Amino acid sequence: MDKKVIKAIIPAAGLGTRMLPIARAVPKEMLPIVDRPAVSYLVEEAAKSGVTDILIITNRDKDAMEDYFDYSVEYNKKLRDTGKEALADDMKKIADMANVYFLRQKETKGLGHAVARARSFVGNEPFYVLYGDDIIFSETPVCTQLLDAYNKYGKPAVGVKAVPDELVVKYCSLKTKHLESNLYEVSDMIEKPPIEKKFSNYSILGRVLLTPEIFDILDNTAPGAGGEIQLTDAMKVVAQSSGMTAVDFEGERFDMGAKLGFLTANVKLGVKHPETGEAFKEFLKEFVKEL
Ligand code: UTP
Repeated sequence: MDKKVIKAIIPAAGLGTRMLPIARAVPKEMLPIVDRPAVSYLVEEAAKSGVTDILIITNRDKDAMEDYFDYSVEYNKKLRDTGKEALADDMKKIADMANVYFLRQKETKGLGHAVARARSFVGNEPFYVLYGDDIIFSETPVCTQLLDAYNKYGKPAVGVKAVPDELVVKYCSLKTKHLESNLYEVSDMIEKPPIEKKFSNYSILGRVLLTPEIFDILDNTAPGAGGEIQLTDAMKVVAQSSGMTAVDFEGERFDMGAKLGFLTANVKLGVKHPETGEAFKEFLKEFVKEL
């Protein structure tokens, strides 16, 4: 019988230096895409994939996130009293998407260190990691695409895309062998490689499905690129021993940790927004004539 994955981790404790100065006051995971913070889209994606319990790793502004995923008695009353039932229902739906838990990372020692904090939350079952600043819009949630690969090949799975050389050196590079359609076997990987050391242009973008064996490996992972404990360095051990599956996922990804990603995500979703989409489209059509 196919396995289910019901737990997810969202690391959202990075310093977000690429988004300074705003990141000093607002974590990049709380930056809006139109009218919702980035982290809201991640929780929605996980919930759509069958996740019931989500742990968000934070380092500050935990309260703002906690409030966002809670019921608001004041808003609820005000909206229902003024006939804005649909908006009140929408707000309630956000709070009901999943059980959302919070944990402080305490020290910003890297993505691997953040994930390692989740050991007791995860227990002894497979889980997803959704990188807090990677937003992906897709027909089928990327987590579901990873789950299908996990159930087919029985190995932890990573979401990948081919990226240009200038990004491979900033992300990571995977050693892959084609299995079928959009699936690849991964036997090695390297974080932020100098270009002459890249295996391929496939990089992990924002979604992984891991098994609990990763926690012992993380505990023994020394700081790597940038002096941080890298999740890639721990996954590399898994890839080299039992192998992983890479899914060249269907979906459009936006890096909310970078100014361009933030801007393009807002434009992409802005034109689709039921309230403002049409007016925004008209504005854009006129505006591009001036460019
Ligand atoms: P990034 O490397 O993109 O985040 O980590 P960063 O360090 O905040 O980025 P810059 O380079 O300073 O702009 C990917 C994800 O891992 C989280 C981040 O919040 C982001 O969602 N992260 C990173 C942690 O939770 N803890 C860390 O120590 C580092």
